[in-house]
Amino acid sequence: MTAVHHDSAARLWMLSTPNSCYVLRLDDQGRLRHLHWGAPLTPDQAAALPCVLDVATNFDGELAEEYPGEGGARFGVPALRVRYADGSRTTVWDHTGHTAEDGRLTLAFRERHGPLALELRYRVHPDSDAVERRALVRHDGTDGEPVLLQQVAAARWTLPLRADYRLSHVTGAWSAENQLTRGPLARAETVLTSRRGITGHQVNPWVAVDAGDAGEEHGEVWSSALAWSGSWRITVERTVHGLVAATHTAGHEGPAVTLAPGGTWETPVSVGVYAADGFGGASRAWHSYARSYVLPRPAELRPVLYNSWEATGFDVGEQGQRELARRAAALGVELFVMDDGWFGARKDDSAGLGDWTPAPDRFPDGLAPLAAEVRRLGMRFGLWVEPEMVNPDSDLYRAHPDWVLHEQGRPRTELRNQLVLNFARPEVAAWAHDWLDRLVREHGVDHLKWDMNRVFTEAGHPGDPDADRLWHDHVRAVYALMDRLRSDHPGLRIEACSGGGGRTDLGILARTDQVWASDNTDALDRIAVQHGYGQVYPPGTMGAWVTDSPNPLTGRALPLEFRFHLAMTGALGIGGDLTAWSEDELARAAELVARYKRIRPVVQHGRLYRLADAVQYVHGPEVVLVAWRLARPHGAPVVPLRMAGLDPLARYRDLDTGELHHGAVLAARGLTTGLTRDHSSRLLHLRQES
Ligand code: DGJ
Repeated sequence: MTAVHHDSAARLWMLSTPNSCYVLRLDDQGRLRHLHWGAPLTPDQAAALPCVLDVATNFDGELAEEYPGEGGARFGVPALRVRYADGSRTTVWDHTGHTAEDGRLTLAFRERHGPLALELRYRVHPDSDAVERRALVRHDGTDGEPVLLQQVAAARWTLPLRADYRLSHVTGAWSAENQLTRGPLARAETVLTSRRGITGHQVNPWVAVDAGDAGEEHGEVWSSALAWSGSWRITVERTVHGLVAATHTAGHEGPAVTLAPGGTWETPVSVGVYAADGFGGASRAWHSYARSYVLPRPAELRPVLYNSWEATGFDVGEQGQRELARRAAALGVELFVMDDGWFGARKDDSAGLGDWTPAPDRFPDGLAPLAAEVRRLGMRFGLWVEPEMVNPDSDLYRAHPDWVLHEQGRPRTELRNQLVLNFARPEVAAWAHDWLDRLVREHGVDHLKWDMNRVFTEAGHPGDPDADRLWHDHVRAVYALMDRLRSDHPGLRIEACSGGGGRTDLGILARTDQVWASDNTDALDRIAVQHGYGQVYPPGTMGAWVTDSPNPLTGRALPLEFRFHLAMTGALGIGGDLTAWSEDELARAAELVARYKRIRPVVQHGRLYRLADAVQYVHGPEVVLVAWRLARPHGAPVVPLRMAGLDPLARYRDLDTGELHHGAVLAARGLTTGLTRDHSSRLLHLRQES
């Protein structure tokens, strides 16, 4: 069956993925109606679909429209809100045509009363269950009044009617990102949003809805994510009539962007995934989609990195970094990243941001000697940068106080003693490109840890009559800068960071290689952070460091092996003060780094199964299991761990002990982990026998 099917008689379009399908139709009044998002259908079956919802009484009405505007008997969340110069808001969209090829579908509309054209764009891929969507609005008048765009959603995702619904998403805070919450979906408009100018720690731009009956490995789940790294809003609407839809919009609350004649406005991509095999199946579909269609270098394996932040804080200097590099290399580390504090007058967070030249007192001969030493030790060289920020106490700010987001005559709120540079100003983006390009070129920088430690406040651009565009233009300028650096320096890799995991989304993942998931490196706290991260984003992109014990943030002491095993479930890094580790710890750490390198393809590229107090990865014939034990009362039964995703007819050899296990036994009876002590852990590496 072709990926995009058009039935001209029924005025119907159907998008097919390997395990799902998505159906739309124009009704007799020319309105675009959503018919189906779920299990695969044939074209004949699709043509027989009734509408999802049709309620029309003298008092109320409700239709499942694919992309509703305002006006008429519409009272739900609009996908599109516009205001014409005469104050009217009502839009009536006449279908003008469509194009369909290569898994892409574009539906075109013209507004009956004003100079607007609308395109709804869809894309599916042959090996993914993701449906990509975005919208484009064009002012197609040649002269005349501009139109105010108040909301242009990337997509509205409509669900089938079910008796009940449950909403899953993540909430969080700095150092406590990605806490999964799952509960009843209110008969209301549930708004998940960031008004902070960045993706945010507080909630991440994805939702999953199920009928209350899905589990980790069974049941239908409808999930959707917005690929955007600025402010955003997802409104999950559940009406009294039972309609459930999630509307995804990029931008700040009430954006007011003016569209002049000839102007266009295009949204970022919103992606939907239907899975019939539970939350685990949905996550695997997301991971596979991200690897195939989002990440810039999906086939690569992330290197084991060392990062200096927890060891030295701002107190970086050439000798100290050389010593850390020497010890890191001895552990088998492949990439050495010097964090904050190497530039300008940066001795703490009060000064120097924006002055991107090596601090002369700490690096008297620049960074070249350290970079050379790191390479001599056999590692790649990485640097921390925070290009979008400035400390008021910096030469940059003294020279260009107008370069920051600000409003005339209003206070400039400082957070972490810093202000946000306005990348929507071309001269600011050009300045950032200039120094980053030079830095990468001069030192052959292999890896940039691109941080962004504060959110937008007073997000104005005095003198720009259309200042609300900056909420979008800043993000687009950051994307363009990353894209340009990557294209000019093909060896460069970028790590996304925003005070830990504050900029984790599919938009940033399209131009970065990994994400620093959280500043919280306590392995116990990390279990929840990583659990939430992996709901949508692939484990291979999830930076996870082993740091010191007791943990500097939580004060909790945990065994070295436990800390390693939990970090080995993502992209392993080491972030401890290696000068304080004992010889025994260093020797054991080197063994565990070597072990990680053996299991790395399975963890980073495999299929993830979440078990009780364990995660499992399957990649070709190889299986990796990481199991841990939390604190339990004495006498609590130790239950065997039932593994998933195995061939019941196959046998699996333990590559450490040589022991053979039957797939059917590991799934039905489970594995005896032998974890009898609190905070003990076990890593199992199996290979299916041919
Ligand atoms: C926040 C990051 O999450 C940390 O890892 C570190 O890079 C600091 N910023 C440096 O200021």
